[in-house]
Amino acid sequence: MTFDDEDTPLAHAAAAAVYVRTSLKGTFPAPQNTRVLTIANQKGGVGKTTTAVNIAASMALGGLKVLVIDLDPQGNASTAFGVDHQEDATGTYDVLVDKEPIADMMVLAPGYESLWCLPASLDLAGADIELITQVTEDERAFRLKMALDIFLSEYDMDYVFVDCPPSLGMLTINALAAVSEVLIPIQCEFYALEGVQQLLRTIEFAQERLNPDLAVSTILLTMYNGSTNLSTQVADSVREYFGDKVLTTAIPRSTYVAEAPSFGQSVMTYDPGSTGAVAYLAAAREIANRG
Ligand SMILES: Nc1ncnc2c1ncn2[C@@H]1O[C@H](COP(=O)(O)OP(=O)(O)OP(=O)(O)O)[C@@H](O)[C@H]1O
Ligand SMILES: [Mg+2]
Repeated sequence: MTFDDEDTPLAHAAAAAVYVRTSLKGTFPAPQNTRVLTIANQKGGVGKTTTAVNIAASMALGGLKVLVIDLDPQGNASTAFGVDHQEDATGTYDVLVDKEPIADMMVLAPGYESLWCLPASLDLAGADIELITQVTEDERAFRLKMALDIFLSEYDMDYVFVDCPPSLGMLTINALAAVSEVLIPIQCEFYALEGVQQLLRTIEFAQERLNPDLAVSTILLTMYNGSTNLSTQVADSVREYFGDKVLTTAIPRSTYVAEAPSFGQSVMTYDPGSTGAVAYLAAAREIANRG
């Protein structure tokens, strides 16, 4: 038995990552106009960030130009892309509070050719209150929209994903005011649908008061376990309620999905053959094909 590099699991994973990087290129249809999706659910830990990161990574590996806006002070999406978001890093906060241009603040995600991240530094936690106390009422909900409009008039992007924090405060309101599509990840567990009603009311409010173009376009079932009755019951009732907005692909629970961010990676490069990666790739294709 040898311990050549090529035989180690790490080398195997690296080879798989190279394969996925080269084989996916050019396999995703580009939308006619930039599609901008907010990934929202005020319930914590339902898979918002995991979905933003892995759908964006799939599309970028498929050759599309993608921007992920990390709107969560926790900065989990920035971490998952291996992008610096320490205290002195610039990013979403500077765009929202100081009106810095997105193009100056975004960074190319390490290892990608066409995936950018607008990082969430820790000071974003204060942005909510600063928007309310320092910005005029007619502007405070629209700071992200103003920045995105300027950015998209100058830069040609295929997809923009906005990863929201688990709350319905000013940050999420900015996200809802700035996009035309909402993607709601729903975790297949008992309390899943309770928070969704409140989220739908907030989206309705945003639609009436801030953004008539806003609509829930996509529902994604996450952490699905087909072997439990509970998971299949939740999935059934979500499909009954939301109809064909629900993607056919449900994302299964997968250890690799949960492990990938600690290596600054998406599961798409960390373990492209895992069930989680295969499911996220299929979900990304569905979204792209529906566009
Ligand atoms: N399909 C999956 N299989 C296994 N673990 C998963 C899966 N999806 C997400 N997780 C794990 O569940 C936790 C919550 O996921 P994630 O951070 O994406 O949720 P979130 O909605 O963004 O959370 P928050 O509301 O805190 O922002 C994370 O530890 C993540 O790694
Ligand atoms: Mg998150």
